[in-house]
Amino acid sequence: MLVYSTGSNISARFFLPRFGRFDPNPRTRFLSIWFPKTPFSTGEILIGHIQTGRHMSVSELLDTLQSDQQRLLDDLIQWLRIPSVSSDSRHIDDTQKACQWIADKLSGAGLSVEILPTEGHPMVLAETPPVPGAPTVVVYGHYDVQPAEPLNQWTTPPFEPEVRDGNLYARGATDDKGQLLTHVQSVCRWLETGRPLPLQIKFLIEGEEEIGSANLERLLPELRERLACDCVVISDSSQYADGQPAITYGLRGIATYELQVDGPSQDLHSGSFGGAVMNPAIALTQMLSSLIDSEGRIQIPGYYDDVRDLTDTERRQWQDLPQDDDAFAKAIGVDELAGELGFSTNERRWARPTFDINGLTSGHQGEGGKTIIPATASAKFSFRLVPDQDPEKVTAGLRKHLDQHTPTGVRWSLKCGHGAVGMLANTDSPFMKAASDAIEQAFGVSPVLIREGGSIPIVTRFQEVLGCDCLLLGWGLSDDNAHSPNEKFRVDDYFRGIQASAILWDEIGKLNANT
Ligand code: BES
Ligand code: MN
Ligand code: MN
Repeated sequence: MLVYSTGSNISARFFLPRFGRFDPNPRTRFLSIWFPKTPFSTGEILIGHIQTGRHMSVSELLDTLQSDQQRLLDDLIQWLRIPSVSSDSRHIDDTQKACQWIADKLSGAGLSVEILPTEGHPMVLAETPPVPGAPTVVVYGHYDVQPAEPLNQWTTPPFEPEVRDGNLYARGATDDKGQLLTHVQSVCRWLETGRPLPLQIKFLIEGEEEIGSANLERLLPELRERLACDCVVISDSSQYADGQPAITYGLRGIATYELQVDGPSQDLHSGSFGGAVMNPAIALTQMLSSLIDSEGRIQIPGYYDDVRDLTDTERRQWQDLPQDDDAFAKAIGVDELAGELGFSTNERRWARPTFDINGLTSGHQGEGGKTIIPATASAKFSFRLVPDQDPEKVTAGLRKHLDQHTPTGVRWSLKCGHGAVGMLANTDSPFMKAASDAIEQAFGVSPVLIREGGSIPIVTRFQEVLGCDCLLLGWGLSDDNAHSPNEKFRVDDYFRGIQASAILWDEIGKLNANT
């Protein structure tokens, strides 16, 4: 047995074999014994502690975080070494390993943990004991990452994490392993201090976010009871700018497709046949460019019917956010920004629907030229959607549009990928206030409210199925190179994220359940 004291807080830990669970309510301060289900990976088993006096203050916890940064960083580096690319079947073992890694981390801290298999990649469900009278929070995040290609554009290999100039470089550093781990670390460290959390935390960590979360979406109704909560916390987005943290209250939805255009039964000599047959690559590019006009307006019938307009308040609030279009253009290496006429950059990125070609394939890709009419051409493309657009309606409109814009002499087929609706969070919730206070304490600046243009397909399902509030707390920066070569996460943002997370538990713990 280990007995220790921090300020007026005295705790005793017993190391005994695995048992059931007992009342973990931290508010019953004189005696609280907790038997986590899962043994420590070290072989030691913490089954309980007795607490007297007041709780160790959150600032004392923050001090312990400060003094142990290397260990916090080493954990992330280890996790980032596992190339858990969900879209690539060659990495199936790695996704399992990444899943197991985070499951072990959580069970090592005494949470009860389950790995749930799915038809695709497994997910982790873990929880701390319930705290009667206090809120329950689900922390959601993903251990899967995007493919790292093109590899030659990385300064150091994507799965050999390296710290340079205060940034940790690796695929998944910001999206989402680094950001997600902040919450795991804050909970693990909190439990290590031997005191109970002032709320119940459930982790839901999946391995298919980057491929649309279809299996989680299918399982969510079955998990409704187990995931019952007051609020979902997600760190998988960005701060508004360096030095300006943010809370994200809106995300765009998405609809993705692959269009194939077929012509002759095999590649043809473009001299012998050119002019007499439709070239599938030309047909494809004509069909694609018919989808958008020169003012950035999408041409699919009915596409804008359900688009919810920005409110005047939002427009005004966004005008107050610092935005330097020239610097923004320069940072991404273009001379000038472009987009739908009549909207500002943030409006275009956050509240307007868009069309993008994500990949184009046809004809000769190897060295030198080859004078052919390719037999086939294909494109991967996507629409970002905004509330209240419906991906299925968009697909129906798209098919109609393609039918009307198919050049003679080719055939097309369309594969639908992911579909997700856009999301708007409740900005008046007490959880928003708690998060704002926590971020201000950790970052020294109070956060601004923003929307973002990316998509997290499952969030609107959380709102619908779990009926809870959503808190999107982005610790990353918009120049973190998510999905790009040289993805990074600033080491200080990782530490600040852990601190903000710990303070958030303290703040939410002060709220009553079902607020
Ligand atoms: N973390 C991102 C979502 C995101 C990006 C939120 C930027 C806020 C700002 C997430 O991992 C992601 O990349 N989602 C995909 C979903 C798609 C593959 C279905 C996306 O947005 O492309
Ligand atoms: Mn992500
Ligand atoms: Mn992503």
